[in-house]
Amino acid sequence: MIAALFPLARPLLQALDPETAHQLTIKALSVAPVRLPPADDPRLAVEAFGRRFPNPVGLAAGFDKQCEAPDALIALGFGFVELGGVVPKPQPGNPRPRVFRLTRDEAVINRFGLNSDGLDAVRERLARRRGRPGIVGVNISANKDSADRLADYVACVEGLCGLADFLTVNVSSPNTPGLRDLQGEAFLDELLARSLEARAAADKRQGSRTAILLKIAPDLTLDALDAIVATALRRGVDGLIVSNTTVARPASLRETALAREVGGLSGKPLFQPSTRMLAEAFLRVERRVPLIGVGGVDSAEAAFAKIRAGASLVQLYTALVYHGPSLIGEIKEGLLRRLDQERLSSLASVVGRDAARFAQGDFS
Ligand SMILES: Cc1cc2nc3c(=O)[nH]c(=O)nc-3n(C[C@H](O)[C@H](O)[C@H](O)COP(=O)(O)O)c2cc1C
Repeated sequence: MIAALFPLARPLLQALDPETAHQLTIKALSVAPVRLPPADDPRLAVEAFGRRFPNPVGLAAGFDKQCEAPDALIALGFGFVELGGVVPKPQPGNPRPRVFRLTRDEAVINRFGLNSDGLDAVRERLARRRGRPGIVGVNISANKDSADRLADYVACVEGLCGLADFLTVNVSSPNTPGLRDLQGEAFLDELLARSLEARAAADKRQGSRTAILLKIAPDLTLDALDAIVATALRRGVDGLIVSNTTVARPASLRETALAREVGGLSGKPLFQPSTRMLAEAFLRVERRVPLIGVGGVDSAEAAFAKIRAGASLVQLYTALVYHGPSLIGEIKEGLLRRLDQERLSSLASVVGRDAARFAQGDFS
């Protein structure tokens, strides 16, 4: 129903400032009656992280930061949704305005700064939906003013294991000062060791199996990527998400005034840099863990390219702002058409087949 209403609501939403429009959307979703969509074609199913995903198209973190509408979002047809980012203590984030639509670029710049209702509120909301269908992850991070950032991630792991299928250790948001420095080797090693230890203890206590993923920035040097992949694999993370928003401003941007806003850029202009980083990660991971590709997915073609670059699953956020929820079905139908054309029975054999070429920046 919500998907059918989007074309009608779109002019209103586009006329409002982006944050108000988003709040209205979340409110509408959180009160909408939830009716599960028809089952997906089994050829779209993906086995990863010990789960069977009904389709590979997921919602990226940041859309439902406070975990208010996971079931309505799953009912839109997503194969999984990532909620959050969540931090332990409630925090307001940066002053408004803090999100900007670069309409002609089909892009967004945001500097929310991890505004969060905090771990207790989110735990309560997730506990209320326990047992409902749908694969749900939560993106976790540290409070801006935390004296011990490592302890913040551990608190989130302890608090959320068993309430989510996966937790994403987010060390790549550009809007919390110093957060991306946590991608540095020594800190990351300690962070992952402590997070995985906390996961093991919490899962054992509750009989749950919570995957731990690591989400990285698109702006890393390849040396930094080498170290991150090596550390993540050595510590035993279950997968990587590539990538978060970029602090770069590609020369191709047409909304030059808005492009000067500080924050992370997402959407169409992020597609190539994030897909290149994904391909580079795939070449280093060598299929030891699955990857989730995110950044500028706005069509079946873009989703298929992410899979060719090495993604087992994809996520999107910004394209929803410009294309609405009907995009989810369009991507799934387009992926099925590709499978038909290539006479394939699943997407598994496509994963990474063009990684070497994309890593060179060859998207022809
Ligand atoms: C408004 C907004 C808020 C976001 N908040 C988070 C967040 O809390 N944690 C996180 O890891 N990524 C966050 N992201 C990044 C997205 O999850 C995604 O990695 C990025 O937007 C690229 O995907 P897209 O081009 O499909 O939007 C946010 C993105 C946007 C646009």
